[in-house]
Amino acid sequence: MSPTHEAGWAHVEGALRGPGWLRPPADANPLVASLWSSTTHKVDGNLVVGGVSLPDLVANVNTPAYVLDEADLRARARAFRDAFAGYDVYYAGKAFLCTTVARWIAEEGLSLDVCSDGELTVALRAGFDPARIGYHGNTKTEVELMRAVAEGVGRIVVDSFDEIARLERVTASLGRPARVMVRVTAGVEAHTHEYIATAHEDQKFGFSITAGDALEAVRRVVAVPGLELLGLHSHIGSQIFDTSGFEVAARRVLALHAQVGEEVGVTMPELDLGGGFGIAYTTQDDPSDPAQLAIEITKIVEHECRALGIGQPRLSIEPGRAIVGPAMCTVYTVGTVKRVELDGGAARTYVSVDGGMSDNIRTALYDADYSCTIASRNSEAPPTLARVVGKHCEAGDIVVKDEFLPGDVRPGDLLAVPATGAYCRSMASNYNHALRPPVVAVRDGVATTLIRRETVDDLLATDLGAHE
Ligand code: LLP
Repeated sequence: MSPTHEAGWAHVEGALRGPGWLRPPADANPLVASLWSSTTHKVDGNLVVGGVSLPDLVANVNTPAYVLDEADLRARARAFRDAFAGYDVYYAGKAFLCTTVARWIAEEGLSLDVCSDGELTVALRAGFDPARIGYHGNTKTEVELMRAVAEGVGRIVVDSFDEIARLERVTASLGRPARVMVRVTAGVEAHTHEYIATAHEDQKFGFSITAGDALEAVRRVVAVPGLELLGLHSHIGSQIFDTSGFEVAARRVLALHAQVGEEVGVTMPELDLGGGFGIAYTTQDDPSDPAQLAIEITKIVEHECRALGIGQPRLSIEPGRAIVGPAMCTVYTVGTVKRVELDGGAARTYVSVDGGMSDNIRTALYDADYSCTIASRNSEAPPTLARVVGKHCEAGDIVVKDEFLPGDVRPGDLLAVPATGAYCRSMASNYNHALRPPVVAVRDGVATTLIRRETVDDLLATDLGAHE
């Protein structure tokens, strides 16, 4: 089949109606409350988060900007901690991490999952207790492992035979032991985007249970005097809504856990079921709350342990998105509005904003859906189906594929996109030499910049030719 084809009605079909799940509202001004952080509301059309009106915030920090609702993030962290009492809850820092958020996470009683030397550095700089840090990664270097062990990181999640050998050398040369979990692939196809589903067999993470690699990895860890085996670790993917994937994974991982007890003679004290709990980006999504998840997951594990006749290991989970995702929104300024006539008499309204795929790559990368609202005024104009795009030199630079906005949306309007806390700032780039936006925390009417906007000097700092 030819990779190119004539652009025609196929591109247009459904464009004016939008996708089936998107209902045209009678009025495009009100918020869909379930998509926004808990303190968010509108006053005379101005979006207010954490008691701070976004037009006021923008007057100080400009756009684009990520706005982080501190109370909301803390409440979500607490909700996981309380619902999963008796578990260890590791916040997955890859979703979003900076020193202040690491401190909040510590204050709320959570542990922290890092997956790189950079994330570890941020955590340690924040004063995070290394004993409460878990270290992930499918190809950690000897230098990285050396640092993690020397700093006293609480658990290292090993992901390859090479890494076990490396860790043996590292612990021997430092004369310091390391506590280890073995990352396994449970062979589960989570119903999520292929690139973020991680427990099926054909991908880079983990040791396969079915191929016997996981049991072999356990044997090798047990044979190394400097390594203390804590347990197995399974993460089945991300943005998952139903617990059936966790159920299948838990069954397989606990069967291996029992087998290790019988055949290797080691009772592992812990078991980690990973993260991946979904959030609402649009009205299509209906996530469970932490209390519901905790009840279901605990029931599954208790049932399996009973059936296997084994004691229950101490459980841990690693939510990232579900804690920080809904706590942030991104605010942009509308730059241009263009009505593009399409074949067949249809037209699409393109609303261009002053950010794009450099501050939110998820739409382009995962075909993710988002929603948005005008954040700086009310409008009487009837809703029109719009596509919000960025300022980058790519046709795929889309922020919100489909949303109904007031038909008079115009340059200068502020536009806010909810649920951008996870994997937006942390995956942001300098594409087209964009300056990455600031992260501004809001709480009780006070705005505090946690990460400042990058400057041209930041951009040029690594360009050695600029300093000649
Ligand atoms: N634990 C492990 C071992 C992980 O690999 C991940 C995510 C998590 C926990 C946290 O998952 P969460 O609860 O945040 O879903 N960039 C993608 C998501 C990649 C997830 C990578 N690992 C996205 O934007 O959807």
